[in-house]
Amino acid sequence: MAQKLSVLLAGPGHEVVNYQMMPAFLSDSRLAVAGQAMNWDVLKSQLPVYKPEVLVVQAGVAPGPDELINLVSGMQAWNGVTLVLLPPGATGARGAFENMPGVVAGVHSTEGLNFGELPALAYSAGETARARLMKVSAAPVMAAAPAGVGYMPPGLQPVLTGTKRIAVLSHAGGAGVSTVAEGLAYELAVRLSIKTLLFSLGMPAAAASHLRLRYIPSMTEFFERPGRASIQSAIQRLEGLDVIVAPDNSLEYLRMGQVVDTAAPNSIYAGLTAAEDGSYAAMIMDLPGAETPWMLHPLYFANQLLIVARPTMADLFATRHTLSALNILGSKLPRESIYLVLNQVSEASAFTPRQFLEELASALDWSPPIAAVIEHDPNILAAQNQRVPAVTRSEKLTRGVRQIISNLFPGMENTLSQTQENNNGTKSVFRMPKFRLG
Ligand SMILES: Nc1ncnc2c1ncn2[C@@H]1O[C@H](COP(=O)(O)OP(=O)(O)O)[C@@H](O)[C@H]1O
Ligand SMILES: [Mg+2]
Repeated sequence: MAQKLSVLLAGPGHEVVNYQMMPAFLSDSRLAVAGQAMNWDVLKSQLPVYKPEVLVVQAGVAPGPDELINLVSGMQAWNGVTLVLLPPGATGARGAFENMPGVVAGVHSTEGLNFGELPALAYSAGETARARLMKVSAAPVMAAAPAGVGYMPPGLQPVLTGTKRIAVLSHAGGAGVSTVAEGLAYELAVRLSIKTLLFSLGMPAAAASHLRLRYIPSMTEFFERPGRASIQSAIQRLEGLDVIVAPDNSLEYLRMGQVVDTAAPNSIYAGLTAAEDGSYAAMIMDLPGAETPWMLHPLYFANQLLIVARPTMADLFATRHTLSALNILGSKLPRESIYLVLNQVSEASAFTPRQFLEELASALDWSPPIAAVIEHDPNILAAQNQRVPAVTRSEKLTRGVRQIISNLFPGMENTLSQTQENNNGTKSVFRMPKFRLG
């Protein structure tokens, strides 16, 4: 049984909290209402006691926006997030709340708000926060952690949160990089309600064909007018998933790829950085196999790397190349952040997962662990030919993608280990075996 998300409801008075907010929450079994606060003093004193994962607060309960911002920023200590509801007259404070995306997961005006949608919004906010939990590893790695990853105040349980920037890569074409990247992104965003942004950076971008998206808008929007607004305008949406594609115009692709300096304002690196607004739990980058800035900038930007390989001799060589090239290419990724995904595995495979690891380890002096083994499944290509997300047609892919999630998202174990009733109503019983060598 998965641990329910704990929610605290707060607002000015009994009416708002018990009649407007509460009813919808009672019927959502994924959430547990830990408490209610009908006035400011109660909210102030109870928030640090309950430590809810999600606070749903009608801003009228606070003396002013500054006081509320101050209070909810303390929720970082336990990785909690807030949904702010603005009553008429308080909507001018929207900007201030939206400026703290790590803690404030959403700002909604109460006017015209469908209160029945609040539990789903709260669920998504809480799951996104859970997914942002980082593995706490050795100190040197933390020191090298990218901006946006912060320590908690001393004396509290150390929780490291931040956006996971996951590069998916292979130096061999056809291994399944796009399939894995898209499957991971769709599973996180659509089925697990975790806020995710997929970058489809191949030439042409695979997401356009696989996920029925368009080539416009694309990264070109950013290249022409670098900034946060233009990268926002490059986003396409598929159900709950945000996607940005590379341009399919060869000349534009080539020109963007000629900006080698990551510090240039219109570089691919700058585009990735501009897209990280603090609201995503995951940014997943489907990289091309050629060593141009389209591969390299995302690689520098990434804090985790998935190398996709088939259990073949050619992919063993390709993986060896990737691992030894990382240093030469200037990647600073620590070894703990690198994983293998063995894809298209079958009885007939030339190597077992164990043999593949051993071959790698004997050629280099180490091998990354395997985050998932994904079996060969013709349903994947069939789905892609019909332009529907492959995880909706392949249990083997779903199982593999969930293994990846359980390895990369330490906050998600509870959600994943339960017998999952998917959003689309189909029941699936995916066990989550962690792959172990030996
Ligand atoms: N687990 C799998 N089983 C069967 N076919 C797969 C699997 N993963 C990927 N494929 C197929 O392999 C081909 C290459 O996949 P793709 O994701 O485009 O690879 P890449 O991005 O690495 O070039 C596609 O036809 C895809 O349908
Ligand atoms: Mg591809």
